[in-house]
Amino acid sequence: MGPRGLRTALIGLNLLCVFLDASATVYNVGTSTMPNWMLPNGSVNYTEWAKGITLRVGDSLYFKYNPNLHNVISVNSTSFAACDTKNFLQVWDEGESTVLIQEPGMHYFTCEAPTHCQKSQAFSILALAALESPPQAAPSNSTAPAPKSSSVPALHQPVLLNSLMLCLTVLLLASIEL
Ligand SMILES: *[C@@H]1O[C@H](CO)[C@@H](O)[C@H](O)[C@H]1NC(C)=O
Ligand SMILES: *[C@@H]1O[C@H](CO)[C@@H](O)[C@H](O)[C@H]1NC(C)=O
Ligand SMILES: *[C@@H]1O[C@H](CO)[C@@H](O)[C@H](O)[C@H]1NC(C)=O
Ligand SMILES: *[C@@H]1O[C@H](CO)[C@@H](O)[C@H](O)[C@H]1NC(C)=O
Repeated sequence: MGPRGLRTALIGLNLLCVFLDASATVYNVGTSTMPNWMLPNGSVNYTEWAKGITLRVGDSLYFKYNPNLHNVISVNSTSFAACDTKNFLQVWDEGESTVLIQEPGMHYFTCEAPTHCQKSQAFSILALAALESPPQAAPSNSTAPAPKSSSVPALHQPVLLNSLMLCLTVLLLASIEL
Protein backbone atom coordinates (compact mmCIF):
# COMPACT_ATOMS: atom_id res chain seq x y z
CA MET A 1 0.00 0.00 0.00
CA GLY A 2 1.46 3.36 -1.06
CA PRO A 3 1.28 6.51 1.03
CA ARG A 4 -1.93 7.54 -0.69
CA GLY A 5 -3.62 4.24 0.11
CA LEU A 6 -2.42 4.51 3.67
CA ARG A 7 -3.83 8.01 3.94
CA THR A 8 -7.19 6.84 2.64
CA ALA A 9 -7.19 4.01 5.15
CA LEU A 10 -6.34 6.51 7.90
CA ILE A 11 -9.27 8.72 6.98
CA GLY A 12 -11.57 5.68 7.11
CA LEU A 13 -10.18 4.72 10.50
CA ASN A 14 -10.63 8.26 11.73
CA LEU A 15 -14.30 8.17 10.74
CA LEU A 16 -14.69 4.84 12.54
CA CYS A 17 -13.18 6.35 15.69
CA VAL A 18 -15.58 9.27 15.52
CA PHE A 19 -18.47 6.85 15.06
CA LEU A 20 -17.40 4.77 18.06
CA ASP A 21 -17.05 7.88 20.17
CA ALA A 22 -20.57 9.01 19.30
CA SER A 23 -22.12 5.59 19.81
CA ALA A 24 -25.20 5.27 21.96
CA THR A 25 -25.38 3.76 25.41
CA VAL A 26 -27.90 1.25 26.72
CA TYR A 27 -28.81 1.83 30.37
CA ASN A 28 -30.21 -1.03 32.40
CA VAL A 29 -33.19 0.23 34.41
CA GLY A 30 -32.46 -0.91 37.93
CA THR A 31 -29.50 -1.44 40.22
CA SER A 32 -27.14 -4.29 40.96
CA THR A 33 -29.28 -5.25 43.97
CA MET A 34 -32.49 -4.95 41.97
CA PRO A 35 -31.67 -5.42 38.31
CA ASN A 36 -35.21 -5.63 37.00
CA TRP A 37 -38.24 -3.44 36.40
CA MET A 38 -40.48 -4.35 39.33
CA LEU A 39 -42.30 -2.94 42.33
CA PRO A 40 -39.77 -1.12 44.49
CA ASN A 41 -39.19 -3.18 47.62
CA GLY A 42 -36.75 -0.89 49.36
CA SER A 43 -33.79 -1.94 47.22
CA VAL A 44 -34.37 0.61 44.51
CA ASN A 45 -35.86 4.04 44.07
CA TYR A 46 -36.25 4.51 40.32
CA THR A 47 -36.39 8.28 40.74
CA GLU A 48 -33.02 8.19 42.47
CA TRP A 49 -31.71 5.75 39.87
CA ALA A 50 -32.72 8.05 37.02
CA LYS A 51 -30.89 10.96 38.62
CA GLY A 52 -27.64 9.03 38.25
CA ILE A 53 -28.02 8.63 34.49
CA THR A 54 -26.95 11.18 31.91
CA LEU A 55 -29.29 10.18 29.13
CA ARG A 56 -28.84 11.45 25.59
CA VAL A 57 -30.91 11.19 22.43
CA GLY A 58 -29.84 7.98 20.72
CA ASP A 59 -29.31 6.15 24.02
CA SER A 60 -31.70 3.43 25.12
CA LEU A 61 -33.28 2.27 28.35
CA TYR A 62 -33.36 -1.49 28.84
CA PHE A 63 -36.26 -2.84 30.92
CA LYS A 64 -36.38 -6.50 31.99
CA TYR A 65 -39.52 -7.70 33.77
CA ASN A 66 -42.05 -10.48 34.19
CA PRO A 67 -44.56 -9.70 31.41
CA ASN A 68 -47.36 -11.39 33.39
CA LEU A 69 -47.00 -8.81 36.15
CA HIS A 70 -45.55 -5.69 34.53
CA ASN A 71 -45.18 -3.72 31.37
CA VAL A 72 -43.61 -0.40 30.43
CA ILE A 73 -45.60 2.61 29.34
CA SER A 74 -44.47 6.10 28.47
CA VAL A 75 -46.85 8.85 29.54
CA ASN A 76 -46.91 12.62 29.39
CA SER A 77 -46.16 14.87 32.35
CA THR A 78 -49.84 15.33 33.28
CA SER A 79 -50.48 11.59 33.35
CA PHE A 80 -47.25 11.01 35.24
CA ALA A 81 -48.14 13.49 37.95
CA ALA A 82 -51.59 11.93 38.33
CA CYS A 83 -50.48 8.29 37.86
CA ASP A 84 -52.99 8.12 35.01
CA THR A 85 -52.02 4.98 33.08
CA LYS A 86 -54.94 5.05 30.61
CA ASN A 87 -53.63 7.75 28.30
CA PHE A 88 -50.22 6.28 27.70
CA LEU A 89 -48.16 7.32 24.71
CA GLN A 90 -46.43 3.99 24.03
CA VAL A 91 -46.46 0.54 25.57
CA TRP A 92 -43.88 -2.26 25.70
CA ASP A 93 -44.88 -5.68 27.09
CA GLU A 94 -42.50 -8.32 25.78
CA GLY A 95 -40.69 -8.85 29.08
CA GLU A 96 -37.50 -7.33 27.71
CA SER A 97 -37.77 -3.90 26.18
CA THR A 98 -35.12 -1.63 24.78
CA VAL A 99 -36.61 1.82 24.56
CA LEU A 100 -34.77 4.13 22.19
CA ILE A 101 -34.78 7.76 23.27
CA GLN A 102 -35.53 9.84 20.18
CA GLU A 103 -36.41 13.24 21.60
CA PRO A 104 -34.62 15.53 24.02
CA GLY A 105 -36.51 16.67 27.11
CA MET A 106 -38.31 14.92 29.92
CA HIS A 107 -39.50 11.34 29.46
CA TYR A 108 -41.92 9.64 31.83
CA PHE A 109 -42.17 5.88 32.37
CA THR A 110 -44.30 3.71 34.58
CA CYS A 111 -46.04 0.32 34.68
CA GLU A 112 -49.66 -0.01 33.61
CA ALA A 113 -50.61 -2.57 36.30
CA PRO A 114 -53.04 -1.12 38.88
CA THR A 115 -51.34 0.77 41.75
CA HIS A 116 -47.82 0.11 40.42
CA CYS A 117 -47.38 3.76 39.52
CA GLN A 118 -48.58 4.82 42.98
CA LYS A 119 -46.12 2.32 44.45
CA SER A 120 -43.29 4.16 42.67
CA GLN A 121 -42.65 1.80 39.79
CA ALA A 122 -42.24 5.02 37.85
CA PHE A 123 -39.64 7.60 37.02
CA SER A 124 -39.01 10.68 34.95
CA ILE A 125 -35.74 11.22 33.16
CA LEU A 126 -34.26 14.10 31.21
CA ALA A 127 -32.76 13.36 27.81
CA LEU A 128 -30.05 15.72 26.60
CA ALA A 129 -29.21 16.33 22.97
CA ALA A 130 -27.07 13.71 21.24
CA LEU A 131 -23.30 14.06 21.64
CA GLU A 132 -22.75 14.75 17.95
CA SER A 133 -24.63 18.04 18.20
CA PRO A 134 -22.75 21.18 19.15
CA PRO A 135 -22.39 21.20 22.94
CA GLN A 136 -25.16 23.13 24.65
CA ALA A 137 -24.59 24.85 27.95
CA ALA A 138 -26.94 23.51 30.59
CA PRO A 139 -29.41 26.14 31.77
CA SER A 140 -28.57 27.54 35.19
CA ASN A 141 -31.70 26.10 36.76
CA SER A 142 -31.39 22.88 34.84
CA THR A 143 -32.92 19.71 36.27
CA ALA A 144 -30.19 17.68 34.60
CA PRO A 145 -29.27 14.77 36.85
CA ALA A 146 -25.83 14.83 38.45
CA PRO A 147 -23.82 11.64 38.10
CA LYS A 148 -24.10 9.46 41.18
CA SER A 149 -21.90 6.63 42.31
CA SER A 150 -24.91 4.36 42.79
CA SER A 151 -25.63 4.31 39.07
CA VAL A 152 -25.28 1.04 37.21
CA PRO A 153 -22.60 1.26 34.54
CA ALA A 154 -23.93 1.17 31.02
CA LEU A 155 -24.01 -2.31 29.53
CA HIS A 156 -21.92 -1.54 26.50
CA GLN A 157 -19.67 1.18 27.77
CA PRO A 158 -16.56 -0.91 28.55
CA VAL A 159 -16.64 -2.52 25.12
CA LEU A 160 -17.02 0.86 23.47
CA LEU A 161 -14.22 2.39 25.47
CA ASN A 162 -11.92 -0.49 24.56
CA SER A 163 -12.79 -0.15 20.89
CA LEU A 164 -12.19 3.56 21.09
CA MET A 165 -8.78 3.12 22.76
CA LEU A 166 -7.78 0.52 20.18
CA CYS A 167 -8.96 2.84 17.45
CA LEU A 168 -6.91 5.75 18.77
CA THR A 169 -3.84 3.56 19.31
CA VAL A 170 -3.93 2.22 15.76
CA LEU A 171 -4.49 5.73 14.48
CA LEU A 172 -1.46 6.99 16.40
CA LEU A 173 0.76 4.15 15.16
CA ALA A 174 -0.43 4.67 11.60
CA SER A 175 0.36 8.40 11.80
CA ILE A 176 3.89 7.60 12.94
CA GLU A 177 4.26 5.27 9.94
CA LEU A 178 3.40 8.09 7.52
C1 LIG B 1 -35.88 -6.76 46.55
O1 LIG B 1 -36.00 -7.67 45.47
C2 LIG B 1 -34.75 -8.11 44.97
C3 LIG B 1 -35.01 -8.97 43.74
O2 LIG B 1 -35.99 -9.91 43.97
C4 LIG B 1 -34.01 -8.86 46.06
O3 LIG B 1 -32.74 -9.27 45.57
C5 LIG B 1 -33.81 -7.95 47.25
O4 LIG B 1 -33.21 -8.65 48.31
C6 LIG B 1 -35.14 -7.38 47.72
N1 LIG B 1 -34.89 -6.38 48.75
C7 LIG B 1 -35.64 -6.27 49.84
C8 LIG B 1 -35.27 -5.17 50.79
O5 LIG B 1 -36.58 -7.02 50.06
C1 LIG C 1 -37.45 8.23 45.95
O1 LIG C 1 -36.57 9.35 46.05
C2 LIG C 1 -37.21 10.60 45.88
C3 LIG C 1 -36.14 11.68 45.93
O2 LIG C 1 -35.25 11.51 44.89
C4 LIG C 1 -38.27 10.80 46.96
O3 LIG C 1 -38.93 12.02 46.73
C5 LIG C 1 -39.26 9.66 46.91
O4 LIG C 1 -40.16 9.78 48.00
C6 LIG C 1 -38.56 8.33 46.99
N1 LIG C 1 -39.52 7.26 46.78
C7 LIG C 1 -39.59 6.21 47.59
C8 LIG C 1 -40.62 5.20 47.23
O5 LIG C 1 -38.84 6.05 48.52
C1 LIG D 1 -51.40 14.54 28.53
O1 LIG D 1 -52.41 13.74 27.94
C2 LIG D 1 -53.71 14.05 28.43
C3 LIG D 1 -54.67 13.02 27.85
O2 LIG D 1 -54.42 12.76 26.50
C4 LIG D 1 -54.07 15.48 28.05
O3 LIG D 1 -55.34 15.80 28.54
C5 LIG D 1 -53.02 16.40 28.63
O4 LIG D 1 -53.27 17.73 28.23
C6 LIG D 1 -51.64 16.00 28.21
N1 LIG D 1 -50.65 16.82 28.90
C7 LIG D 1 -49.63 17.39 28.27
C8 LIG D 1 -48.68 18.16 29.13
O5 LIG D 1 -49.46 17.28 27.06
C1 LIG E 1 -35.44 28.85 34.84
O1 LIG E 1 -36.45 28.14 34.13
C2 LIG E 1 -37.62 28.87 33.87
C3 LIG E 1 -38.58 27.95 33.15
O2 LIG E 1 -38.54 26.67 33.68
C4 LIG E 1 -37.31 30.09 33.03
O3 LIG E 1 -38.48 30.86 32.84
C5 LIG E 1 -36.26 30.92 33.71
O4 LIG E 1 -35.89 31.99 32.88
C6 LIG E 1 -35.05 30.09 34.05
N1 LIG E 1 -34.08 30.88 34.81
C7 LIG E 1 -32.81 30.96 34.45
C8 LIG E 1 -31.93 31.78 35.35
O5 LIG E 1 -32.37 30.38 33.47
